[in-house]
Amino acid sequence: MNDISSIDREIKWNESDSEQFLQFGKALVPYREKMEKILIDLLFTYSQNEFTVVDICVGGGWLAESILKRYPKSKVIALDGCEKMLNYAKDRLTSCADRVTFKKFDIHKQSWEENLGKVDCFTSILAIHHLNDSEKEMLFKRLYSGLKRKGRFIIADIIKPVTEESRLIAAREWDEIVEEQSMSFYGDLRAYKFFEREQWNIFYYPDPVDKPSILASQLKWLKNAGFRNIEVLFYHAGHALFTGSK
Ligand SMILES: C[S@@+](CC[C@H](N)C(=O)[O-])C[C@H]1O[C@@H](n2cnc3c(N)ncnc32)[C@H](O)[C@@H]1O
Repeated sequence: MNDISSIDREIKWNESDSEQFLQFGKALVPYREKMEKILIDLLFTYSQNEFTVVDICVGGGWLAESILKRYPKSKVIALDGCEKMLNYAKDRLTSCADRVTFKKFDIHKQSWEENLGKVDCFTSILAIHHLNDSEKEMLFKRLYSGLKRKGRFIIADIIKPVTEESRLIAAREWDEIVEEQSMSFYGDLRAYKFFEREQWNIFYYPDPVDKPSILASQLKWLKNAGFRNIEVLFYHAGHALFTGSK
């Protein structure tokens, strides 16, 4: 693992981003529950035996919790660059503490995956959009090497729209979904107001921290890395879930 002080220096996502994401994350992500169901379904094939999932940028740990609770033979290696997120996830996952390990890492650094050993699955939810195109392409190759045979890489993330028209469609749809989810989760517009106030919709307000890539390019990089059975299983409001296996 990398030297922690260098991670703190270079991480572009800050503690206040984490605080805000922990507070409203489920309302800010389009149909996160649908994503979760797809992820869980994709892991079923491994569940008869012990298997290990690396959750890249675990955040508050909602996905790790879902995997550990649904699949008693699963183990999760939970990675994040933010101490606050790791502590939050640790608290959340105390009931499964014997099956989860936490590591601080910097996604921008090369070869953070090398000490993990071969694993069954890498999951990356809203994480790799922090990497630019060439960093993503290299990461896909490295993760392919880090998987066991028949292992899987599952990505759910913001996608770069190809045209001006699709950017505006993604922006509008994301706004509409957050408004709808704010009402359904909180009974009021608190999450939507936050989303607007903080200019969270990067399709309207681009932020240099976020470097989404075109979906077709990412599918090509998966193929070039060696992945097969590449498919897109979810797309809403500029967010896609796609996957490939070894
Ligand atoms: C949008 S959140 C997503 C978290 C989680 N996957 C989820 O779906 O709730 C992005 C996560 O990436 C982490 N992160 C941002 N930059 C990072 C970096 N350079 N290295 C490691 N983690 C980073 C943040 O701490 C945060 O937990």
